[in-house]
Amino acid sequence: MAALSASTHFDWRLARHDIAGSRAHARVLHRAGLLTSDELEGMLKSLDTLEADVASGAFTPTIADEDVHTALERGLIERAGPELGGKLRAGRSRNDQVATLFRMWLRDAARRVAEGTLDVVDALVAQATQHDTAVMPGRTHLQHAQPVLLAHHLLAHAQSLTRDIERLRDWDARAALSPYGSGALAGSSLGLDPAAVAADLGFDGPVENSIDGTASRDFAAEIAFVLAMLGVNLSRIAEEVIIWTTAEFRYAVLDDAWATGSSIMPQKKNPDVAELTRGKSGRLIGNLTGLLATLKAQPLAYNRDLQEDKEPLFDSAEQLELLLPAIAGMIGTLTFDTDRMAELAPQGFTLATDIAEWLVREGVPFRIAHEAAGACVRAAEARGVGLDELTDAEFAEINANLTPKVRDVLTVSGSIASRDAYGGTAPDRVAEQRERLIVRLAEH
Ligand code: ARG
Repeated sequence: MAALSASTHFDWRLARHDIAGSRAHARVLHRAGLLTSDELEGMLKSLDTLEADVASGAFTPTIADEDVHTALERGLIERAGPELGGKLRAGRSRNDQVATLFRMWLRDAARRVAEGTLDVVDALVAQATQHDTAVMPGRTHLQHAQPVLLAHHLLAHAQSLTRDIERLRDWDARAALSPYGSGALAGSSLGLDPAAVAADLGFDGPVENSIDGTASRDFAAEIAFVLAMLGVNLSRIAEEVIIWTTAEFRYAVLDDAWATGSSIMPQKKNPDVAELTRGKSGRLIGNLTGLLATLKAQPLAYNRDLQEDKEPLFDSAEQLELLLPAIAGMIGTLTFDTDRMAELAPQGFTLATDIAEWLVREGVPFRIAHEAAGACVRAAEARGVGLDELTDAEFAEINANLTPKVRDVLTVSGSIASRDAYGGTAPDRVAEQRERLIVRLAEH
């Protein structure tokens, strides 16, 4: 029973927050007349000593302590004596404590994860700035589609990660309410002020409903989703880095500091950071789905099932804290082979759409233009040449509107420059997009 019940091996992470909660609780007990000023002073002193002992490792949980809350209550009683130390439990329950402390831990973690994500975005923006004219084959279905700027592609990843940072911030607005004072479920009868505790602990206010405060964990599920989404977004970048650094692609080379060797093959340079990112994203998805399954069908209010809420979240946040600096390092030090990417950009007839759209600008209906561009691809393919190598006569034979002027759009730079609508790949648009992103990031 003790082995099954114990949670100190993971919830010890909440020790600092538990002591902060105890300080706030001691103050409202004092304010309600349930602790004298001397008792409050003694209590706060003992909590200071306990905090120092926790920090130094002089106080640790024993096998007999069920959870962080009972362990720290023992620590307080050892320091303040049973008379005074025993007074702190009045008007609070581990149910409202744990719901509050878990929110505090997650709010801190969300800030750290957001900072780490910001460093990855900064690395992407720095690469985009450094390569503001480099081109690459843009892909759909992993097949060559249309040429794009490398900066445009890198900033696409920066956009999704910026939304993740914003999701973390938006989540905080809902998580910033304190369940302390909800008691076991029904609230406190001792005249304690939940708003005062909330303010003391850095919350925006107390929860509206003590049953909801102790029983709900949607704040945990919601951030588990945000962390899983972040993991998935990082995994998509990681997958591309893995592909880009293969001998077949050769778009980029990993810096030695962010790659690993093989224990047997001396030539190897493996993208382990990217692979661990891809792998751990599965773990983050598992943490989200596991928590949702734990919550499903639990009657109100607190059930011990809820003790299962912490490990998946501690894990998701801590895995990301390991990953994010490594991903930022890997991306920031990636060396792109822009000549290779430029050479590949027009291959696979990526300028075929440009022929069709040029014809549309000449007044040809798109259905006919699309067909004519397809015919150009077939003609070029049959002769084993690029679209720009078709002769004037070949163009004219395919469609009378295909005058030699069409060659204007049959270069990668011409194609890219022509996509100059808001959000498009034209260099000016990409530069503006980057500037707007930098402004948006400065708000975080
Ligand atoms: N350790 C528990 C948890 O993490 C809190 C304790 C509540 N236990 C109880 N029997 N009411 O959820």
